[in-house]
Order: sequence, then C-alpha cells, then structure tokens
Amino acid sequence: MAKLTYLSHSAWLIENGRYTIAIDPFLEGNPLAQTKPDEITADFIVVTHAHGDHLGDAIPMAKASGGTIISNFEIVNYCSAQGATAHPLHIGGGRDFPFGRVKLTPAWHGSSFPDGSYGGTPAGCLMHIDGKTIYHTGDTGLFLDMQLIGEMDPVDILLVNIGDNFTMGIRDAVKAVDLVKPKLAIPMHYKTFDVIDVDPDEFATKVRASGRDARVLGINESIEF
Ligand code: NI
Ligand code: MN
Repeated sequence: MAKLTYLSHSAWLIENGRYTIAIDPFLEGNPLAQTKPDEITADFIVVTHAHGDHLGDAIPMAKASGGTIISNFEIVNYCSAQGATAHPLHIGGGRDFPFGRVKLTPAWHGSSFPDGSYGGTPAGCLMHIDGKTIYHTGDTGLFLDMQLIGEMDPVDILLVNIGDNFTMGIRDAVKAVDLVKPKLAIPMHYKTFDVIDVDPDEFATKVRASGRDARVLGINESIEF
C-alpha cells in the first residue's frame, strides 16, 4: 500500500514503505505548506519545471538526503552544478527507477529559474508506482494531447492544476479530466497566492457532474492507493 500526501500547491509526497518520492517540493516560502523541507527524507524528487514554486527546496532536500532529482536535462544540469545528485529525462522520455517508472509529458508553460536563466521546457510527469499510474500535470494550459496520455496509460490518479491565471482554471481543468479520463482527479495549484484563489470544491462538483470522481485534499491529507 502506498500513500499520496498533498503538501499544498503542486507539492506531493509518495511513500510506499520502501521509497519516499517528493514532487515539486515548494515548502520554504510557501504560505500554505505545513511541512518543512528538513522533515522529508526523499529518495527521489521529481521537478516538473524550474519556476521557484516547483523547483522549491529540491536542491537542499536532495543534498541533505542523498536522494536523486529527476527532471529535464537543463534543470538537472543546474542542480548537479550545485552539488545535488540528479537524473536527466526529457519530454516523451521515461525510465525505470527503483520505485517505478517516470515519464516526462508535455506542458504548455514556461520554465525559467528564479534568476531568469533557462530551465528547459516545462513538463508534467506520468508515474507508475506499485501498479498504479499517477499523472501530475505540472503547470500547464489545456491541450488535446492529454487525451493521448490517458489513452496510452490509463490514469488512476490525475493531479491537475486548477488555479487559473498562470495555468488552467476550473473550466479548462474539468475538460482536462474529461480528456485524461482518470479514476480520480485531485486539484492542485490553487489558493497559494491571491491570483490563484479559486474554489477546489467547485472543480470537484463539476467533475462529478461530468460523471468522473474528484476529491479535494486538505494540506497534509493523504490517500492510499
Ligand atoms: Ni510555473
Ligand atoms: Mn506554478
């Protein structure tokens, strides 16, 4: 049994008793996060793009734990130069890691580092862990190829950005669920900042009205999968 925990924003923790995997661990400076980076010992850290609210504390966390950052080639070069262990992937490419498979998927967004330098192209990630498939959209606008992702790898859990302004808002995110067809959709990337203050329950209600399942997780709330 594995556990998926919402750390807030786009930050997630997956623990299966053997491995701890963090995704987009933006904790320090995140007004919603209730977990500090040093409370997590991550074996692997997946980073979808270089923006500060996604790269977050990945580098110090990887250096502290000895864990491996998994991200695009450009972000991995940046992290390696700062002394973190990291494995490069790029869009469309996947690899089997000790805990399961990770594939980077497209995302329509930007990916500059906080200092403005180039962070490659932004990504989402498709993860296969303990027989389940989780699709974290990263930061993205709506795109029709989401349908292809869900068609080729039936998705159990879709972690989908709903906050509008920088990414899909609720209307587009509901359509994304319709395209991906996951067993369960969980919203993310909302309320952290004033400009993404949308109501996750509105998203969940609309997804359910479309005949699919959605669940809103509180900060540090977990589900088992
Ligand atoms: Ni972003
Ligand atoms: Mn973001």
